[in-house]
Amino acid sequence: MEIKVPGRLLMSKINAIYGTGGFAREVMPILKEQCPNEENIFIVHKKYMQTENSINGCPLMSYEDFIKISSRDKNVTIAISDTAIRAKVSDQVDNDHIKQKNIISKTSITMDNVSISDGVIICPFVTLTSNIKIGKNFHANIYSYVAHDCLIGENVTFAPSVKCNGNVIIEDNVFIGTGAIIKQGKKDNPLVIGANSIISAGSFVTKNVSKSTTVFGNPAKILSKSSLK
Ligand SMILES: CC(C)(COP(=O)(O)OP(=O)(O)OC[C@H]1O[C@@H](n2cnc3c(N)ncnc32)[C@H](O)[C@@H]1OP(=O)(O)O)[C@@H](O)C(=O)NCCC(=O)NCCS
Repeated sequence: MEIKVPGRLLMSKINAIYGTGGFAREVMPILKEQCPNEENIFIVHKKYMQTENSINGCPLMSYEDFIKISSRDKNVTIAISDTAIRAKVSDQVDNDHIKQKNIISKTSITMDNVSISDGVIICPFVTLTSNIKIGKNFHANIYSYVAHDCLIGENVTFAPSVKCNGNVIIEDNVFIGTGAIIKQGKKDNPLVIGANSIISAGSFVTKNVSKSTTVFGNPAKILSKSSLK
């Protein structure tokens, strides 16, 4: 399938950012810097298509049209901060056999023995220090860091300025709000944040967080009507 957007044919190598929200629009300049001579576009599920056919000068098309393009050299990076939605879209992209690309800012710093899976977004001024393993579709927003000996699962979101100290395990689909600090764990007893949990903006997490739990404050405790009093 040949696609014209807007008023011209797409180049053969196509990098697509899935999403058009604030974060997706922040990530596009990083992609353009990384791939200046390639076709960098936005895609969304067809039910979210807008009347415009471009955003900030980059073409916008539906995911459904994107998968019909015959180019073999196309890939997707999902820039949706919501961890559950990102996980769902990621499954769809994998089912359609489309490669998920990493977008990594030139101003980020990666030190020794850091392994990064696919579809990861590392924003400006992020630091990943040493001996770290990062799962698929991790988002590290501006000014966040991951320190030594951490294990990050799939579809984890770090909002801006999240500080994840050493010997921490973050399980799949965890969302960590702006400015949260995760205290360091111990080598033989890492601090664990359970899958599907939410760490509120500005929290200081000093101990393990159970799965599917929202915590807030300093020291972080479970967010409930009574704990807010
Ligand atoms: C914790 C969070 C997920 C809760 O969201 P929510 O379910 O929509 O809840 P609300 O914002 O309505 O807040 C519920 C109560 O918790 C309090 N609260 C919310 N976030 C809080 C926080 N980080 N610290 C302390 N209290 C907080 C609110 O003041 C409110 O209290 P009230 O009922 O006495 O008025 C959300 O507040 C949060 O921290 N999100 C992360 C934001 C972020 O970092 N975004 C990144 C953008 S890139």
